[in-house]
Amino acid sequence: MKKLFGRIFAAFVLFTSVSTNAAVNDDLTYANYDQVKVSHVYLDLTVDFDEKALKGFADLSLNWLDKQSSTIYLDTRDLKIFKVMAQNTNSDWIKVDFTLAARDDVMGSKLTIKPGFQAETVRVYYQSTEVASGLQWLAPEQTAGKKHPFMFSQNQAIHARSWIPIQDTPAVRLTYTARIHTSKDLLAVMSANNEPTTKRDGDYFFSMPQAIPPYLIAIGVGDLHFKAMSEQTGVYAESYILDASAEEFSDTQAMITASEALYGEYRWGRYDLLMLPPSFPFGGMENPRLSFITPTVVAGDKSLVSLIAHELAHSWSGNLITNESWRDLWLNEGFTSYVENRIMEVVFSRDRALMEQSLSVSSLESDLSELPANDSVLYLDLQGRDPDAAFSNVPYVKGQLFLIFLEERFGRERFDPFVLSYFNNFSFQSIGTHDFLEYLDINLISKYPGVVSKEEVNEWVFGQGLPSYAPAPQSNTFDKVAKLSTQWQAGDKQLNELPTAQWTVHEWLYFINELPRDLSNEQMVALDQEFKLTTSSNAEIAHAWYLLALNAGYDVIKPQLEEYLINIGRRKLIVPLYKQLAESEEGLAWVKAVYIKARPGYHPLAQGTVDGILNK
Ligand code: BES
Ligand code: ZN
Repeated sequence: MKKLFGRIFAAFVLFTSVSTNAAVNDDLTYANYDQVKVSHVYLDLTVDFDEKALKGFADLSLNWLDKQSSTIYLDTRDLKIFKVMAQNTNSDWIKVDFTLAARDDVMGSKLTIKPGFQAETVRVYYQSTEVASGLQWLAPEQTAGKKHPFMFSQNQAIHARSWIPIQDTPAVRLTYTARIHTSKDLLAVMSANNEPTTKRDGDYFFSMPQAIPPYLIAIGVGDLHFKAMSEQTGVYAESYILDASAEEFSDTQAMITASEALYGEYRWGRYDLLMLPPSFPFGGMENPRLSFITPTVVAGDKSLVSLIAHELAHSWSGNLITNESWRDLWLNEGFTSYVENRIMEVVFSRDRALMEQSLSVSSLESDLSELPANDSVLYLDLQGRDPDAAFSNVPYVKGQLFLIFLEERFGRERFDPFVLSYFNNFSFQSIGTHDFLEYLDINLISKYPGVVSKEEVNEWVFGQGLPSYAPAPQSNTFDKVAKLSTQWQAGDKQLNELPTAQWTVHEWLYFINELPRDLSNEQMVALDQEFKLTTSSNAEIAHAWYLLALNAGYDVIKPQLEEYLINIGRRKLIVPLYKQLAESEEGLAWVKAVYIKARPGYHPLAQGTVDGILNK
């Protein structure tokens, strides 16, 4: 009954025209952005590694929409606010009152500023603190080079507020400039104009002239060096991984070309990559002009470069068109997963694209079997939860399958021009699910009647789980692997008879993931002896094997697993292992001891997640 009501309501939302500009659609911000919008931020910050703090001030340029109002509410979390000034129309700076409210665990502390008039600019003197959820500070000994410290930000979803007092909502877009002071031997980079020729002098200027949401403001500081991959693309990294990264990601330019051919011009100037320490909690982050990348994808054989295609694809879906609230995350991630896969098809092959689709669908199915039904809906109900805790493969893969569904029904000859026109139509705007649905209806569903029904669209976006008619990507290459695996399990083939020399990493992942979870110790030993899986240098293969091993009680992996958990902080790779270990008393005891060593090297976000698993 509830589900039926949901559908009726959803249909109502889709087919009555919903006003897009008036409402405040993001309830994870304190900002009164319907009354006043920050249009530009200037940051003047000193990077203090001793105190683990960014210190200085932020100038916020204000655009008053409500002529009656003169109060501004900003988002902050764990910031120290020292003083607020406002500039009046005579350009005089005056000190103004402010109050910082009590801290909410999800939202942080509301900063209220009352200039008493419609100030054009307010200046907030502040500093971040050691506990900033959006920053990680690494001591020299925690880096590969061991000589210099490293610091980086990760703002998505709502962590910008932990180092900038700001309207921390994707509904607000702003330009920014920054002056960053560091010690002379470090280089600072930001999601802005990074010049490959920048002199390393500890005083750095940045400008991002295109309006972006605050979650895309980003900074990295360390012993960084640059290597060009093409005229437009390059890598920033610590020396140890600079050459290997440039080699691994040498197809980046080809990826840009492929995406431009399908979806229009790349609008952001340069496209560089910043290689982060292994503690980076994500695979990648699409900070504009400078994607942040985990070193765990530098596998040596380009097997994991779909990550670059993914972060690059966000230059269209996410950065050019942005979800106006985190409920609409699927607009960012579903579209990006779809575009990523189209890029992989052009730059590599249809076969590889299908293998990657198939692996993604398996992860989605595993999520769907565990998630509360409500979280299997594309248009997410966050219910005041921390968005970090509510994200899964649903916005990514269910979103991607929805778009593949539309592509297959309408044909690429009609769907590709639709996506291109969508990107052009909403460029540099933040929109909600209802805006997309309205555009979809006018430009595809109603334009070509009888192809896809409105009920089908509603089921995809507002319904739970996967529709019965969802695409099921089929990979012939995987089918062959499945056959061989079955033959081995039945004793009809020996491991050394499998044609694994030709297998790609994708085939290995499929092979391991599809093995029964309760292989005998004898079988595990045989696999390991033949294929040396416990010591695999591919982080994804090792992850898949360790999960299988834990299920099978194959404890031989423990020393390598311990090292893995200490060296890698990417949540997707470590969290399932912690969860699996926490299932048994013995596993929990073992991993708690490992975690004592691993925790200090983890990012605050990863620490939070793992703390939650082990302290249950
Ligand atoms: N934007 C995301 C990372 C993100 C999402 C951070 C939501 C915080 C909240 C990034 O583009 C991403 O999706 N990264 C994936 C890799 C991708 C290939 C699926 C990741 O980090 O695993
Ligand atoms: Zn993404």
